[in-house]
Amino acid sequence: MSELRYDGQVVVVTGAGGGLGKAYALFFGSRGASVVVNDLGGSFKGDGASSKAADVVVNEIKAAGGKAVANYDSVTSGDKIIETAIQNYGRIDILLNNAGILRDVSFKNMSDKDWDLIIDVHVKGSYKCARAAWPYFRKQKYGRVINTASAAGLFGSFGQTNYSAAKLAMVGFTETLAKEGAKYNIHANVIAPIAASRMTETVMPPDILENLKPDWVVPLVACLVHKDAEENGAIFEVGGGHIAKLRWERSSGLLLKADDSYTPGAILKKWDQVGKFDKNAQYPNGVADFMGLLEASMKMGPNDKGETLDFKGKVALVT
Ligand code: NAI
Repeated sequence: MSELRYDGQVVVVTGAGGGLGKAYALFFGSRGASVVVNDLGGSFKGDGASSKAADVVVNEIKAAGGKAVANYDSVTSGDKIIETAIQNYGRIDILLNNAGILRDVSFKNMSDKDWDLIIDVHVKGSYKCARAAWPYFRKQKYGRVINTASAAGLFGSFGQTNYSAAKLAMVGFTETLAKEGAKYNIHANVIAPIAASRMTETVMPPDILENLKPDWVVPLVACLVHKDAEENGAIFEVGGGHIAKLRWERSSGLLLKADDSYTPGAILKKWDQVGKFDKNAQYPNGVADFMGLLEASMKMGPNDKGETLDFKGKVALVT
């Protein structure tokens, strides 16, 4: 099998001065793409700025015979980053929203600054870059986006309410971009990576970090953003050579029938059904799925007292 190539394509990698972003940039630079190496060059807590981080990566790509240009803007000015791609290469094909910082602190001690900075860099930054790239993607009927979530966002993580909120936002953002982009051949997927970087080097032991090379996250991203890739709107966990997909699961659930009282007590009596993940559990991927479930319930016919369920009427009673 021949290797995946990206010749003639322009890849923007945010936060490409180190860690995962650097690994992406070097890879795409070695596979024929022109790479915009964005990095603000600050600390992992978001303080300071420097052009050095991006320059080092650009030089490395060029020294290996690849094409790359640096951009030093914050992702919160994502339009300037995309502008760098357009000015230098005339197009943008692939956007890797990767830049990120941490401001870990217990919720009790969370300050507005800790909260706002994290939401700004991760959520607004990813939005600004994607928003600026979107018109080009639509016009050329082609675009690939990777957003970066985290296990902290999917599951919660002590001391990371700000980061968790921002990272789960990446999932909803991606799922909607995927739906809006599909008919223009714009695909968006989201990854929750795990890799050794300055972000993780202080929280994980060296022998584990040794097995979590950023390079091992790269191949999945490379597959997802290739022009022949079909995945769209999916969530992946990736790291240490392991790649898995995640999806939502809805329990088979409790349906209050016409003969139930529609009181909190009626729910408590059947509480185990609310959380029952049995063979009737479902894997929804759209808002309409829940309405479909309700419609199906309404068609279940009369109960053993001969009453028919009027679900719409009952909902109106509750609200
Ligand atoms: P890293 O700290 O090595 O790299 C992040 C890069 O983003 C840095 O070079 C930094 O200068 C840059 N950056 C920060 N703020 C920026 C801004 N406003 N504008 C432009 N660039 C900015 O960290 P790592 O580990 O490579 O993280 C990459 C992404 O993966 C982040 O979004 C992070 O939250 C996410 N992630 C990483 C995990 C891991 O295990 N390393 C786990 C889960 C998520």
